[in-house]
Amino acid sequence: MQSLTLTRPDDWHLHLRDGAALAAVLPDTARRFGRAIVMPNLKPPLTTVAQAAAYRGRILEALPPGSDFEPLMTLYLTDNMAPREIDAAKASGIVHAVKLYPAGATTNSDAGVADLARCRATLARMEALGLPLLVHGEVTDPSVDVFDREAVFVERVLAPLLKDFPGLKVVLEHVTTRDGADFVRESGANVAATLTAHHLLLNRNALFAGGIRPHHYCLPVLKRELHRQALLAAAVSGNPKFFLGTDSAPHAQKTKEAACGCAGCYTAHAGIELYAEAFAAAGALDRLEAFAAFHGPAFYGLPRNRGRITLVHEDWTVPAALPYVAGDALIPLRAGETVSWKLQAE
Ligand code: NCD
Ligand code: ZN
Repeated sequence: MQSLTLTRPDDWHLHLRDGAALAAVLPDTARRFGRAIVMPNLKPPLTTVAQAAAYRGRILEALPPGSDFEPLMTLYLTDNMAPREIDAAKASGIVHAVKLYPAGATTNSDAGVADLARCRATLARMEALGLPLLVHGEVTDPSVDVFDREAVFVERVLAPLLKDFPGLKVVLEHVTTRDGADFVRESGANVAATLTAHHLLLNRNALFAGGIRPHHYCLPVLKRELHRQALLAAAVSGNPKFFLGTDSAPHAQKTKEAACGCAGCYTAHAGIELYAEAFAAAGALDRLEAFAAFHGPAFYGLPRNRGRITLVHEDWTVPAALPYVAGDALIPLRAGETVSWKLQAE
C-alpha cells in the first residue's frame, strides 16, 4: 500500500469556536497538526491580548491528554485597536497575527473594520514589528457580484494597502481566485496566501449538485473551475508564498440546513487527508510536505515541527454526522462518502 510520511503539518487558518464546540472539534485538529493559527471571530471577538491569552488557556484545557498541539493566537482588528495593543501582542509571544475582517463580510464579522483608514497607526506598528495581517479578502459592497468580491478586494483594498505599507506582512487568507493567487505571486516576499482543501477540490457546481448543498457553502464562496485549477497550480508549485490553511469552520447542522444557512465548511476531521487527495490528483504528492509543514513556519518565522505523520492510500468513510454541541450534530465535508487517504494511528 502506498504511504506518505511527512513532517507534522500546521494549519495556518482554523476556527475552533469555544466551550462545548471547542471540545468537540479540537481533537480532530490536534491529531493531525502540530500548531494552528486560531481565528479570533468569537462572540464577542478577541480584540485584546488578555482575551487571546484567556482563550488560549481554554484551548489548552480542552486538549486530549498528552497532546502537544500549540494554538497560535490572533487578534481581531477593529477601527479602534490602539497601536499599543500591537506592541503588547508582539511582546506576548502567544499572539502571532492580527485578522482583518471587513465589517459584515462573513460569520461573526459585524465588529470588523468599516474604515481601514482609521487603522493606519495600528498597521504602521504591525509593519514596524513584523506582525502579520491576515486578510479576509472580500469587499462587502452589495453592488459587487458575490463571485467577484475577492478580485475587487485585491484591486480596491489590498493593492493600495501594500502601496501604503510596503513592508507589511500580509496573508491573503483562503484565496479562492486566479486573480488573488496571481496578485500574491507577483507581490514581494512579505505577501503570502493560505489555501483551503475544499477550494482545491471543489468548484461552484458543488453548491448546486442535484439541489442546493448548504454544506458546501463557505466564504469566500466556491468559484469557477478555472479558479480551482489556478489554486491547485499555486498549491503544488512549490512557491513558499502558498501554504496550508483549512479554514475548517464548524456550524451546527441546523444552522447550515436553514432558510438562511451559515457560511463555513468543517474539514478538520480530514484536515490533511483532503489535501493529499488534491495533491495526488495533481500528481504532486512530493510537494505536499513543503506546502503543509515548511512554507508556513518560514513565513511566520517559527521552527518546523519535529514530529512526523503518516498517511496511507486507503479509502475510509467519513461519518454522516459528528457529535457537536448538546443536541446538535456537525456535518463534515464528504459526510457519508469516502476519502482516499487515511491518517495512520500513532
Ligand atoms: C468562517 C466562520 O464560520 O467562522 N466561515 C467561512 O465560511 N469560512 C469565517 C470565515 O473565515 O470567513
Ligand atoms: Zn476562516
